[in-house]
Amino acid sequence: MQPSEMFVGSIDQGTTSTRFLIFNRDGEPVASHQVEFGQIYPHPGWHEHDPLELVSSVETCIAGAVQSFESQGHARTSIACVGITNQRETTVVWDHETGEPLHNAIVWTDTRSQSIVSELKTRPGASHLQSLCGLPLSTYSSATKLLWMLEHVPKVKDAFDRGTLAFGTVDAWLVYRLNGGVAANVFVSDSTNASRTMFVNLETLQYDDALLDFFGIKGKIHLPRIVPSSDPSAYGVIASGVLAQVPIMGCLGDQSSALVGQKGFSPGMAKNTYGTGCFLLYNVGEKPVISKHGLLATVAYDFGGKPVYALEGSIAVAGSGVKFLQNNLSFFQDSKEVNDLALTVEDNGGCVFVTAFSGLFAPYWIDDAKGTIFGITQYTQKGHIARATLEATCFQTKAILDAMEKDSGKALSELAVDGGMSNSDLAMQTQADLISIPVYRPKMRETTALGAAIAAGLAVGMWRNFAELRDINRAGGAVFEPQISREESATKFGQWEKAVRMSRGWIG
Ligand code: G3P
Repeated sequence: MQPSEMFVGSIDQGTTSTRFLIFNRDGEPVASHQVEFGQIYPHPGWHEHDPLELVSSVETCIAGAVQSFESQGHARTSIACVGITNQRETTVVWDHETGEPLHNAIVWTDTRSQSIVSELKTRPGASHLQSLCGLPLSTYSSATKLLWMLEHVPKVKDAFDRGTLAFGTVDAWLVYRLNGGVAANVFVSDSTNASRTMFVNLETLQYDDALLDFFGIKGKIHLPRIVPSSDPSAYGVIASGVLAQVPIMGCLGDQSSALVGQKGFSPGMAKNTYGTGCFLLYNVGEKPVISKHGLLATVAYDFGGKPVYALEGSIAVAGSGVKFLQNNLSFFQDSKEVNDLALTVEDNGGCVFVTAFSGLFAPYWIDDAKGTIFGITQYTQKGHIARATLEATCFQTKAILDAMEKDSGKALSELAVDGGMSNSDLAMQTQADLISIPVYRPKMRETTALGAAIAAGLAVGMWRNFAELRDINRAGGAVFEPQISREESATKFGQWEKAVRMSRGWIG
């Protein structure tokens, strides 16, 4: 097949929905299908997914998108390969001998491992972890979620004792199951996902004995082989369904994928994705930078040559804050309406909402912060709270950019954005106002899915190099210029920082 005749499929397995998109060589999505799946909240602060439902949601999306693709007159045989992008850190455990999951997946937002984190912080060697793996000890990474399961789920502990416990992030689980599970036993994870576990040395991109020892799992657990994000053979082939025998050739954690989809290939380029959470990745080049200001060091992408690293600012709540207004407070029927509700008022009416539903992530890392709304009076309307919800992510982005400037010594001159909340003009204008630099929003915002398509497409030869990707999705974007003074922005930010300080330590 000539590259111009090829299409590439992209599985986007996110926190609240799964999608499958089919891209042409111009990087345009020509068919897609999306489903939502169950969110399980067994206790306050706990968040789980059914691992089998994640797989079936992928299969449903592939079938739906391929049907739409064929109805446009395309042949499914023109789909040369598939890429995967996925929610990161979410932890799946299964039995290596049967291929069956042993517990629900514990989602990245889940804070149940708080006491484990506190105990780990007192152990010798705890202060060196971040310099090895780039991540601070927190409830966020996979390691503490795995330790919680080992302590609290007898089935998991039994498998551990028998030597049959397999651990993986969502990419590893999907690749394993899409290949047919235990029969094919394709058990791999890409470097970007693996770098979120706390088990991997950022320099070598291999499991680090010191880290495995620290968490007490060295030699006792089946871990996926770590492979590049773009690879023609490591990820196997889809075993069944409408794309049976199509190879999987690319895999990236969703935030890395969005950076690739935004073509943030040069040091100094950054993107901010407003999905369920919000994640700012700043390309730092071929050497990791260990943050001194509350950011994470992570693998941006690993296309087989030298890996490229990023500094990351992770915000736990963005779209999930809007969903909270919809599902828990019944403010509207559809999350798109948040913009209209926020526009019913002129400003936040004095409200600041610290949306610390999973504690507060970067750059604060306050595990015991709780969601708190400050400044409520009889004057407060739903619109003020809607505005304060959108502003919360924008304030945290501002805090992250300040930290990034301190770590990198450089100020960003423009912020590229994508993800659901970036569709809100109000949110993006607020963002530009608060960070005092322009915000650039591309026309096609499926950048996360596009990144995985690029990783797979490069492996199959649909594109040969980054230069061939240059013109993809360049025209028709929008720029939001700051419209308030830096002084006004600093005053607002001061209120946010005060609210953050007051949101910690609530026991309830
Ligand atoms: O680290 C968690 C992240 O990968 C989840 O992304 O898009 O579901 O907010 P998203």
